[in-house]
Amino acid sequence: MATIAIASDHAGFQLKGELVAELGKLAHMVNDLGPADTSSVDYPDFAVRVTDAVTGGRAELGVLICGTGTGMAITANKVHGIRAALCRTEFEARMSRQHNDANVLCLGQRVTGTGLAIEILKAFITASFEGGRHATRVEKIRAVEAKR
Ligand code: RB5
Repeated sequence: MATIAIASDHAGFQLKGELVAELGKLAHMVNDLGPADTSSVDYPDFAVRVTDAVTGGRAELGVLICGTGTGMAITANKVHGIRAALCRTEFEARMSRQHNDANVLCLGQRVTGTGLAIEILKAFITASFEGGRHATRVEKIRAVEAKR
C-alpha cells in the first residue's frame, strides 16, 4: 500500500480529517502534514509540505485541500516534479493518473461534498499510469519544466 501525504488550509481542514479516516480504512499509510486546527493559515505553506514529501520520496502520492482546490493546485504545480490535478469528478481523478501520471490530488472543500470527495480519492489512488504515448507527453511536461 502506498504512503500518502495530505495537508489542507483552514478551508479544507474538515474534509482533510474525513479523508485521513478513509485512507486509514483503506489501509494506506497516511502522513497528515497539517494543519492541526481551523485557525487561518496560508495554503502555500501547507502545499509545499506535501510536495516536499512527494519529491523527497517520503510519499508516493499527495492530497491537498483548500476552499476551492485552486490555490493548492497552482502552488503545487510550481514545484519541479509535481503534477497536481484539481479534480471534481472520479473520471478526472482516474484520467489524471492514467494519462498524466498525476502525483498530487487537489480538492475543494467548498466545492465538493465529502461523499464525492471520497470516491474521487479512491479513483485517484487505485488508478495507475498507462505509459506508452502518455509517457512521451509526460516527458514533454518535464522538458517544459526544465527549460522555463
Ligand atoms: C481561503 O479563504 C481560500 O482562499 C483558500 O482555501 C483557497 O480556496 C484558495 O485557493
